[in-house]
Parts: sequence; C-alpha cells; structure tokens
Amino acid sequence: MNQKAKVLWFTGLSGSGKSTIAIALEKELYARGFYCYLLDGDNVRTGLCNNLGFTTEERSENIRRISETSKLFIDAGVICINAFVSPTIEIRQMAKDIIGEEHFIEVYVNTPLEVCEARDVKGLYKKARAGEIKNFTGIDAPYEAPLNPQIEIKTVAQSIEEACQLIINQIFNQ
Ligand code: ADX
Repeated sequence: MNQKAKVLWFTGLSGSGKSTIAIALEKELYARGFYCYLLDGDNVRTGLCNNLGFTTEERSENIRRISETSKLFIDAGVICINAFVSPTIEIRQMAKDIIGEEHFIEVYVNTPLEVCEARDVKGLYKKARAGEIKNFTGIDAPYEAPLNPQIEIKTVAQSIEEACQLIINQIFNQ
C-alpha cells in the first residue's frame, strides 16, 4: 500500500476540536494518496460501543475495544485517525500497549476548558453544569493532559489547516 500503518490518537476535552481536525486531516491525507480510516464517538459509540456510558470502567472498555479495532486496521495496513476524549494517562497507556508503541502517535488537542465550555457546540457543558449529565470530563470527571505528546495542537492559536499541516510535516514528512 506504499504507506506505513499507524494510529494517530487524538485526545482532548469534549468540544476541543479533535474530530474537526481529524476529519480535515483525513481529507488531506486521502488527497495525498494515503489510505486512512477515522474512528470517533460518532461511528463507534453508535455501534461497536453502544452499550457503554461514561463511568471510568465503561470509558476504559470503550478505549479497549477501539484499540483492538485499530490493531486490526494496522494489520490491514491502514492509517487510523482516532479522536476520543480518552481522559486519563492510564487509559491512553492501555491504548498504546494494545496498539503497540511503534504504531501509536499521541496528538494532544489542547483547548482550555473555558474555551470548550464557551463554544459548547453540543450544549453538553450547560447540561453538565446543571447536573443533568454526570461524570462529564472537565466538570465532574477528570482530564489528565498528556505529559509528552508527539504533537500538541493549540486550537486557540492555530487554524484547522495549520494543525493538519503540522501533523503532515511531522509525521508524514510532507
Ligand atoms: S471517552 O472518554 O470514552 O474517550 P468518547 O470520546 O468516546 O469518550 O466520547 C466523548 C463524547 O461523548 C463527548 O465529545 C461528548 O459529546 C459525549 N459525552 C456524553 N457524555 C459525556 C461525559 N459524561 N463525558 C464526556 N463526554 C461525554
């Protein structure tokens, strides 16, 4: 397939811009002849993981299934672009262990909570503040930022195009 399979693992708060950047990156990589597949809450939590909620245990099972799925994609030679909150260092370490360190690239979409909350694209922060949603990441459930991500994107300072270009330069040398 003339490419090296890998997993670009996007982590960040809800509403940080993970999926938006991941979708733009997928388009850009396709245009350059790479074969990719995007996994995010939209296609995973409606099917493969539709019996899981947001307790620590359920998030862990969500990430485990996603990681095992990604491993199969790696085996098929595909570049996986995964966009999941994956809120703790431990949960991302599990993903890395399942997928294999050599294939795992951590991308931290660093958008401050205040910005995510002000955007509140899905209206979920408002509900979480009102107590209508429990265990909401950043409100009443933790988010641990990566200590040493291969790539960090600060969405308040970078456009989507700039973020994609940074990843393409650093990971694909293009
Ligand atoms: S993860 O923690 O298990 O990695 P995942 O990325 O699949 O989470 O799903 C996060 C998305 O689910 C959020 O962007 C948001 O739209 C929605 N969501 C619903 N409830 C919660 C919650 N309690 N905490 C975080 N996200 C939630």
